[in-house]
Amino acid sequence: MKDKLIIFDTTLRDGEQSPGASMTRDEKVRIAKALERLRVDVIEAGFPAASPGDFESVQAIARTINQSTVCGLARAIDSDVDKAGEAVKPAGRRRIHTFIATSPIHMKMKLQMEPGQVIDYAVRAVKRALRYTDDVEFSPEDAGRSEEDFLCRILEAVIDAGATTLNIPDTVGYSVPDQFGKTIRNLIERIPNSDKAIFSVHCHNDLGLAVANSLSAVLNGARQVECTINGLGERAGNASLEEVVMAVRTRKDVFPCSTDIDTREIVNCSKLVSSITGFPIQPNKAIVGANAFAHEAGIHQDGVLKNRETYEIMLAEDVGWTTNRMVLGKHSGRNAFKTRMHEIGVEFDSEDALNQVFFRFKQLADKKHEIFDDDLQALITEAALESEDDWAQLVSLKVCSETGETPRAQVVVRVDGEEVTGIAEGSGAVDASLKAIESIVHTGASLQLYSVNNITSGTDAQGEVTVRLEKRGRIVNGQGADTDIVIASAKAYVNAVNKLVLRKEKRHPQTGSDV
Ligand code: KIV
Ligand code: ZN
Repeated sequence: MKDKLIIFDTTLRDGEQSPGASMTRDEKVRIAKALERLRVDVIEAGFPAASPGDFESVQAIARTINQSTVCGLARAIDSDVDKAGEAVKPAGRRRIHTFIATSPIHMKMKLQMEPGQVIDYAVRAVKRALRYTDDVEFSPEDAGRSEEDFLCRILEAVIDAGATTLNIPDTVGYSVPDQFGKTIRNLIERIPNSDKAIFSVHCHNDLGLAVANSLSAVLNGARQVECTINGLGERAGNASLEEVVMAVRTRKDVFPCSTDIDTREIVNCSKLVSSITGFPIQPNKAIVGANAFAHEAGIHQDGVLKNRETYEIMLAEDVGWTTNRMVLGKHSGRNAFKTRMHEIGVEFDSEDALNQVFFRFKQLADKKHEIFDDDLQALITEAALESEDDWAQLVSLKVCSETGETPRAQVVVRVDGEEVTGIAEGSGAVDASLKAIESIVHTGASLQLYSVNNITSGTDAQGEVTVRLEKRGRIVNGQGADTDIVIASAKAYVNAVNKLVLRKEKRHPQTGSDV
């Protein structure tokens, strides 16, 4: 019998800490449902003390999810632990994850505490968390740069206090595989009560080593890996779930453990996270990139046709590449639509909500012959992005683009209930349209990123556009989808503007600053 490797997903917490990746409550619930279908063991649903909105999101997830454990993050202070405990209460299985920094630089400069005090805070937080659940995880933040002797002291103390999972974070992505693996082995061997807890790792990707470090830790005794879909996360991101899971599965000969993940759900989950956050997946990304299973070179194709194992170590269908089958079209009725939505995990709160998305589906089916699952997901994302309460709403867009002439756009945007027209010229149709919108909304924000992704293949495919705006250090992502990429771009810009205007205070768990 192989050991079980627990997969702890933190897309909704650490993933959301990526600048511009913030998600609404409903979006988080949608992703949590997809993670449950993926059979993730633990879903870190958020940091409930960050803001009332974060508390509500974690609570909503706790009310929805039955199979996976729902976890809330808390600094090692009473009020955070209480908030996390209250937020996860409705979940069938709940966990509190509490943390405090243990590296010399963090203790001195950030916490301004002596090591002994740090241990007292950690022990107190673990004991308080036990009032809400017996599943308590503790992390010594910046363990990658902490002294091993001190880690042994604090971890022994929190196990005595009742922590059942000890998570070793490489917070700043400083570790390298061999050394990180040895640290995990040393901790397990040196801490006298280590057999009473599961050792976990949480690696950041600043040196591109997050997955390698996590796997080295697994080879040295870690039995939980914290990771995110598509490797989303703070700065260069976290270890990518799909890479960790497929490495362990593909190299059964090397790893003494296995996961319960339903790998056929990986691609769906990856696309959903990408479309909700607006973080595109690079084509050559392992497992979930569009080219991950494409054999371009003739010699490779020849080999694959003779025997696929010549160049393939995994099957595309095993990670869900072929499940995106054509399902609906122009003549599909409301029932067929509702049934397929249910099959891909989307439920509607009311008949009204169903009718609104069905209306969008019909509009899309008029323009596009075949509607794929990815199109349906994009419809839901779109519907969730637009609200009648939005400060700005795109009413119409007219673009004139012809060879030898300067492109020109005329846009009508409803701002605070009043329709305003803007006209601008630009270097292309998209540039002119975004300038025309800016001439109406006057955000003064700078455009940091503009990207287009085709949702499915073919020239009639929907383009999914992401626009990232920055203003005074605040970063927001806007998304829009349409079969016409100029319209998709305008929608994305208006969506970003609405996020910029809607300023919500939210605390970052590790730096304490507003995000
Ligand atoms: O990277 C980190 O140290 C964290 C902790 C809160 C576990 O995200
Ligand atoms: Zn982290």
